[in-house]
Amino acid sequence: MIKSLQQDHQNIAKLLKVLEHKLELIRSEKAVKYKLLDDIVTYLHDYADKFHHPKEDMIYDYYVKYRVVEDDLSGKLKVQHEELKELTEELQGALELILLDAVVPLDQFSDRLEAYIQAQWEHLNYEEEVVFPALLRHLTADDWRAIEQGWEHGRGGDEDPLFGHQVKEQYHALAERIRLSESAS
Ligand SMILES: [Fe+2]
Ligand SMILES: [Fe+2]
Repeated sequence: MIKSLQQDHQNIAKLLKVLEHKLELIRSEKAVKYKLLDDIVTYLHDYADKFHHPKEDMIYDYYVKYRVVEDDLSGKLKVQHEELKELTEELQGALELILLDAVVPLDQFSDRLEAYIQAQWEHLNYEEEVVFPALLRHLTADDWRAIEQGWEHGRGGDEDPLFGHQVKEQYHALAERIRLSESAS
């Protein structure tokens, strides 16, 4: 299970790099495909906020319930997930306006985008460097089995619409963009 979360992180990292590239373009007043930006943010909202983070929350809840947590980590993870969800929705709102051709000051938008990218990186690094190592240190194979069963029971389903077996129609353009930037690097 932790492997699939780490895979998600690698995928999210790819998207953040595309966002960084877009940010550069906006800052240098070059043309940007806002639809693609919107696809990324929609994916982060539909997959990360709805499946990836709840899964992490569930594992973390289990950890806090059955193990002595030696530091004050508990709470922080969920707070960050809530904050990220709000930031994602705010960014989605701004993008919607842009796509509707409403006048949106681009310096304001790029500041927002930059703050968003930074918050996502910080969260990702916090999990990779602090949370996941703690989980791996303390949880046993039996724990992971129980967690997995709990997830299937409570929620289940998490087919990734972009990086999963089948790319959903709405993400075809974005998948192509990611493929291109991977073959370029
Ligand atoms: Fe997370
Ligand atoms: Fe995560």
